[in-house]
Amino acid sequence: MSENKQIPQHIAIIMDGNGRWAKQRGKDRSEGHFAGMMALRETVKSAAHRGVKYLTVYAFSTENWGRPQAEVDALMELVCKGVEMNTPELRQEGVKVAVIGDRSRFSESVNSALDRIISQTAEGEKMTLVLALNYSSRSEITAAVQAIARRIATGELKAEDIDEQLISASLYTASLPDPDLIIRTSGECRLSNFLMWQAAYAEFYFTDVLWPDFGDEQLAEAIKAFGARDRRYGLVK
Ligand code: FPP
Repeated sequence: MSENKQIPQHIAIIMDGNGRWAKQRGKDRSEGHFAGMMALRETVKSAAHRGVKYLTVYAFSTENWGRPQAEVDALMELVCKGVEMNTPELRQEGVKVAVIGDRSRFSESVNSALDRIISQTAEGEKMTLVLALNYSSRSEITAAVQAIARRIATGELKAEDIDEQLISASLYTASLPDPDLIIRTSGECRLSNFLMWQAAYAEFYFTDVLWPDFGDEQLAEAIKAFGARDRRYGLVK
């Protein structure tokens, strides 16, 4: 938690509803994703100004490769375009970008765009924006278990050394605090393979707003709802 208990230190967002937003307007799904990127831009600025320290967004899941190739291509292009369009403002706002997920499946152009935004925003101290790309919780946990098993095989670790801290430290999110608040837009109320380990004590906020319509006002509402929650972490007050 941040010093101000009303403001979550780490917010994670499942940005859902780009396709429906486009359909309602007779537009192509890729236009919905572009509008989603603009919503993300506004939300990042709003979160940083409100004192949020970490904002993690589910931008591309391991399951999203199964979408029509044209949509996958449009999303990959959007990553490159997003880097180009947003790096100057992120630098100006003091926002540092990090990526979680398996980057090995991305093209060279996507990976070099990601390297660019990571290195050009590395000095940002106000907030960290974490892009979950080719991410899923199950694949993250599987990779962590494999890494731990390899360390046991070399004799570096014993089975008894495995504890919650070691598991947390073996995930992509090793350097991040757990999310305090998880937001999902578009009326869907599920976690969809996102931060399942890290969400152990997160508060959930679901809204019917479609992601492209999300922004400063909607984030303020989510933070207000969070402030009214009573977090007991399994204890008695
Ligand atoms: C879910 O909406 C959204 C996605 C799978 C992509 C999220 C991407 C962005 C918001 C673009 C900006 C971010 C980056 C870094 C590329 P959906 O397509 O599942 O919507 P639907 O459920 O209404 O069809």
